[in-house]
Formats: sequence, structure tokens, C-alpha cells
Amino acid sequence: MKRFILLGPPGAGKGTQAKMLSERLTIPHISTGDMLREELKKSSELGKQAQHYMEAGELVPDNIVNQMIKKRIANNNSEGFILDGFPRAESQAIALEKTLKEISQEIDSVLYFDTDKEIIIERLEGRRVCKNCGAIFHIKNMPSQKEGVCDNCKGELYQRSDDKRATIENRINVYLEKISPLLKFYTNNNKLIKVNANNTTEEVNKEVLVLLKDKNLL
Ligand code: AP5
Repeated sequence: MKRFILLGPPGAGKGTQAKMLSERLTIPHISTGDMLREELKKSSELGKQAQHYMEAGELVPDNIVNQMIKKRIANNNSEGFILDGFPRAESQAIALEKTLKEISQEIDSVLYFDTDKEIIIERLEGRRVCKNCGAIFHIKNMPSQKEGVCDNCKGELYQRSDDKRATIENRINVYLEKISPLLKFYTNNNKLIKVNANNTTEEVNKEVLVLLKDKNLL
């Protein structure tokens, strides 16, 4: 079993690296952001409850995301998972421990994607996502072959509504408010591995693979 958490600021590249790791290890990429956006798209009750928090760059209340993850993990039939964007606060980490304990599982490693603020802003402002398959591009760092069109499925690329400057700033502030206790929690558990996420996508991926191999997790 391989169970990982990817931790880091918005725009650190968690989604990009999670997709790469997920393919390599054939374990699912579980992103609370993607799950919530799916609910928004369906206009479900849960989506309606989450909408204004997401548009403002605030955290969706714990009871909603904790329940969502609990259900997703209970239905996981694969040999592990990669959590991206969860937990985001110490309270969520505690809820996750409880959920995993109930099914005699535990997290193997927490990869912390350390990233500078200017880099985060540049990455988020230039991000484009496929409406159809969720593939992630960047207008400069990872452009699609044809502008506005996904390389994988020819779906339409769009800019997330929370990737606007003012919302990005708020998301960073929310992140900074919550991150210290979370880092302490996983440092105390001896699970935290720090990654320099300022580097290129390929360099970050290489570093992640080396670090996981060193810990016999590959
Ligand atoms: P979520 O979707 O999780 O957003 P986030 O954490 O802000 O993270 P991002 O998806 O913005 O960034 P990322 O690190 O995945 O970067 P990416 O790989 O795309 O959450 C959205 C909202 O949902 C939250 O604000 C909140 O409201 C709610 N929510 C979600 N989870 C919650 C929870 N647990 N509790 C409460 N609320 C929750 O990369 C970014 C860009 O950079 C891309 O364009 C990419 O191509 C480019 N890039 C990536 N890596 C590199 C690199 N190394 N070099 C150059 N460019 C790169």
C-alpha cells in the first residue's frame, strides 16, 4: 500500500505532480478541490454549500470535506492513494487519522511542496485547465499545442474563477494561517518530506521520486 499526502500552497504544483505520481504508481489521485468543483458543476446540494467559500478563496467547512474524504477513502479499491489539497488544517489531519485508524490504515508520507509567493502567483495566473478531462496547462510553462485546446482530449481550456489576482492573494493568506500547525503535526509524526517546488515540473518530479525511493516507498 502507498498512501501519500501532497501539502503546499495553492499553485505549488500539487495537482501536476499528483497526476504524474498517480500514473507511475497506478493509485488514484484524490483532490478535494476537483471533487468540490465536480459538485459545483452538478449543482448538487453539497456544491451549493461550497460555492461561495470557493469563489472567495476561503476554506469549505470541515464537516463537508471530512465527510467527503471519509466516503471516498471507504470506497477506495486501489493499493493506496494520493491526497491533494486535503488535509489543509490540523483539524482535518486529526479527522483523517481517525478515519484511517477505523479501517486500520495509515499515511506513509507527506510531501510538502515549499514554494515562493511570486512563483505561486505567476503559476496560478497562467494556469489553464481542461473542462473535459481536467489536464493542467500553463500559458508559458506548459502551453498546450493549440491555444485554448487540450492536448489530450481536445477539450476546451478555461481559467479557474479562483485564479484571479484578488482571490489568489486570499487563498495564500488562508494557506499561511493554517500551514504551521499542519507541518508540526506531520513533523511530529515523522511523516514530513520537504520538496523544493520552485524548480521545473521535471526537476520536482525527479526530486519526489528520489525522496520516495530513499524511504523505500517506490
Ligand atoms: P484546490 O483545487 O485544492 O486548490 P489549491 O490548493 O489552491 O491548489 P491549486 O489547485 O490551485 O494548485 P496546485 O498546487 O494543484 O497547482 P497545479 O499543479 O494546478 O482548492 C480550491 C478550493 O476548494 C479552495 O480554495 C477551497 O475553497 C476548497 N477546498 C479544497 N480542498 C479543501 C479542503 N481540504 N478544505 C476546505 N476547503 C477546500 O499547478 C499550478 C500551475 O502551475 C499550472 O498551470 C501548472 O501547469 C504550473 N506548474 C505546476 N508545477 C510547475 C513547476 N514545477 N514549474 C512551473 N510551472 C508549474
